Formats: sequence, C-alpha cells, structure tokens
Amino acid sequence: MATKLKNLLIVHHSRSGTVHRMAEAVIAGASICENIHLETLNPLHASIKAVKKADAIIIGTPENFGYMSGAVKFFFEEIYYECLDSSRGLPYALFVAAGNDGNGAVSSIERIIKGLGWKAVAEPIISRDGITEDTLENCRELGMSLSEGLELGLY
Ligand SMILES: Cc1cc2nc3c(=O)[nH]c(=O)nc-3n(C[C@H](O)[C@H](O)[C@H](O)COP(=O)(O)O)c2cc1C
Repeated sequence: MATKLKNLLIVHHSRSGTVHRMAEAVIAGASICENIHLETLNPLHASIKAVKKADAIIIGTPENFGYMSGAVKFFFEEIYYECLDSSRGLPYALFVAAGNDGNGAVSSIERIIKGLGWKAVAEPIISRDGITEDTLENCRELGMSLSEGLELGLY
C-alpha cells in the first residue's frame, strides 16, 4: 500500500521583501525531502482546507507595530474556529523579520497558537535590521528540519 504523502504548509506575508527572502530559504531547505508535499499560502488567501490537511505548518511575518502583520492576523481570524479542534497538536515553527525587535510578532502569534493547541517544534527565527547570510542559512535549516521531521515520522 502506498504511504500517504505528508503536507508541509508555509504561510508567509511580506510587505517589502525581507520575509519573502526568508521564505524562499525555508522553502529551499524544506524541498530537500522528495516525499514531503510543500504548499505555500498567502495568508490573505487563508484556506481552512490547507490547514486541515497540513501535517506541519511554518508561518512567516514581519513585525508591524509590535504585532504580527495584518495579513497574518487575518489568516488566524479566518481559520481559528474552523480549525480549533481538528488541528490540535499541529507541529509549527515561526520566522519573523523586524526592524529592531520581533518579540511582539512572536508573542502575538504564540498567544493565538496556544489557543489552537499547536506544538512548537523549533525556536522562532527573528531577523533584525536587514537580512544576513546566517539568517538565510537558519531559515534553510528550519525548512529542512521540519521536512525531515515529517519524513522520519517524528511528528
Ligand atoms: C508599518 C510598519 C510597522 C513596523 N513596526 C515595527 C515594529 O513594531 N517593530 C520592529 O522591530 N520593526 C517594525 N517595522 C519594521 C519591519 O518589521 C521590518 O522592516 C521588516 O523587515 C519588514 O519585513 P518585510 O520586508 O517582509 O515587509 C515596521 C515596519 C512598518 C512598515
């Protein structure tokens, strides 16, 4: 019997490109496992179906006004109640671009995710004041580690 392909959902929003570059690195890292199906989603196109079929999720956002971006907040508003029971335990990770902080974006997302009952499987990555090669490498490793974790059945 064929094994079911696992789905890794990457939801990210970028206003001026930094999170987008981080997301490209996350996707490049996650692409290493041929048996993992990657889906990328613009949070403004929030899809309950995509969350329900995800076996793990990675979320990327800029920090705006000490919070996640409006687009990512919209995503959570759209999926929250529909996915509340069905997505409990979903493994997740975060990456954030910020001018000088980033903690507000992380904590605002973590508060919502606590309600959803998702499970953190990596430390959040925060890029401050422009992007470095180290940050991009960390993003590649993040994508790789979630993809490999799914492939190995760790989550
Ligand atoms: C409207 C607005 C609000 C922002 N608020 C914050 C903030 O509260 N804390 C912070 O560290 N950076 C803040 N920034 C800086 C962005 O987080 C930073 O430039 C980030 O790299 C943008 O990511 P992006 O290029 O993917 O849009 C803000 C930027 C904008 C445009």
